[in-house]
Amino acid sequence: MTQDIQTLAEPAAEPRKVFIKTYGCQMNVYDSSRMADALAAEGYEPTENVDEASLVLLNTCHIREKAADKVYSALGRLREMKKTRTAEGKEFTIGVAGCVAQAEGEEIIRREPGVDIVIGPQTYHRLPAALKQVRTGRRVVDTEYAVEDKFEHLPDPKKVAGRPRMVTAFLTVQEGCDKFCTFCVVPYTRGSEVSRPLAQILREAEKLVANGVKEITLLGQNVNAWHGEDEKGRPMGLGDLLYRLAEVPGIARLRYTTSHPRDMDDRLIEAHRDLRLLMPYLHLPVQAGSDRILKAMNRRHKAADYTALIDRIRTARPDIALSGDFIVGFPGETDADFEATMRLVETIGYAQAFSFKYSTRPGTPGAELTDQVPEEVKTERLARLQELLLKQQHDFARSLVGKTMDILLEKPGRMDGQMIGRSPWLQSVNVDAKTLQIGDIIHVRITDTGPNSLFAEVAQG
Ligand code: SAH
Ligand code: SF4
Ligand code: F3S
Repeated sequence: MTQDIQTLAEPAAEPRKVFIKTYGCQMNVYDSSRMADALAAEGYEPTENVDEASLVLLNTCHIREKAADKVYSALGRLREMKKTRTAEGKEFTIGVAGCVAQAEGEEIIRREPGVDIVIGPQTYHRLPAALKQVRTGRRVVDTEYAVEDKFEHLPDPKKVAGRPRMVTAFLTVQEGCDKFCTFCVVPYTRGSEVSRPLAQILREAEKLVANGVKEITLLGQNVNAWHGEDEKGRPMGLGDLLYRLAEVPGIARLRYTTSHPRDMDDRLIEAHRDLRLLMPYLHLPVQAGSDRILKAMNRRHKAADYTALIDRIRTARPDIALSGDFIVGFPGETDADFEATMRLVETIGYAQAFSFKYSTRPGTPGAELTDQVPEEVKTERLARLQELLLKQQHDFARSLVGKTMDILLEKPGRMDGQMIGRSPWLQSVNVDAKTLQIGDIIHVRITDTGPNSLFAEVAQG
């Protein structure tokens, strides 16, 4: 009784709000949503408006110099905001999570003393504990590789009131990388390869479906290196995992990213042949087309291995479309090496691709190489490569005009009665769909292409 009176007399305090800014890859997008889950259990509501947040988290990326620089300029702005808030007597906590946190640790606080928490990708389940410490006036740096499994310590993904229904979701199944490409920080920021156990993955997939998710993208820095065992202790690879997930009631579509060519085994290719649920789209980075450069990058495959692999995948699943990542201007890359990359792109034909100028990353073997390529050469090569990749992307989109396909309706479109769906090849498709609902999978005919999307009408059958 007394308690009731107290509750009436003291209206519940405003819930604390957290603003999370995500940089980098899909794994960070996934981690941000799990951090939001962990914080929701502590009473934090997510907000898109930094002005109403009492906690700001930057989930950072260290992959290229520019990505890391962005974090420091954002922290500079937050420092000013913190001054104003503190002067007003308000709580304002700044946390840095993700790969810059892992790579730079305490150095971040040294450069930006306004930062209260630095927490690595392996320890973010300890975020609530870190916040408690901050409230006692301490700063927290937690970038150990945790001995406990963070996934076991995170609350299940929840449907959050006010958040729009998500019909697509990421599910991290593997983390870290043992490949040590000589340009790349990931093995240092994310540690060595770890796979989540089958039961944990199935449970999370079932939860997602129960929350309305139709399409699940399995994530890993090296997702096709995933390995586990079934209930009888028999070894499983990613292909086997996909067959198992395809049996989970309610899952309509499956994808996975990012893969390494060395880990595309026969079973995974069979999964592409057999599973209609597995979308005919594969992100399979090659990085470069010259064997000399591939060797210097420690990619452990030749250009011909890659093209032969793509042939096998296309034989198994003829409608598959490819996406890739490319780096131009790796140290020692000559004009002839670069032309080999252009030829490889011509040979494969990509539906989509990401391409970057080589960025020297401290601590990686590439940073030790002396024959760095001049910036203007990199700029020119990147422009040529991107022109070709963009042309291929448009050609692919145009090849779909007049064809029919299933799309998953994801969100309302810009015009009244219009909806935006997702094609099997990850394109956005605009369609007039007045009587349909988000989450429906509908059959459409592509009528036209726009700069970044397709247009379609509902088709019969
Ligand atoms: N695990 C994935 C890629 C992770 S990083 C894979 O193995 O393919 C995403 C992409 O960033 C890489 O594929 C590469 O193209 C690019 N990248 C990584 N390090 C880079 C660097 N130092 N400079 C420029 N691009 C880089
Ligand atoms: Fe980086 Fe290479 Fe590992 Fe990909 S495979 S995460 S590029 S080291
Ligand atoms: Fe960036 Fe870390 Fe992803 S460095 S690309 S956020 S794994």
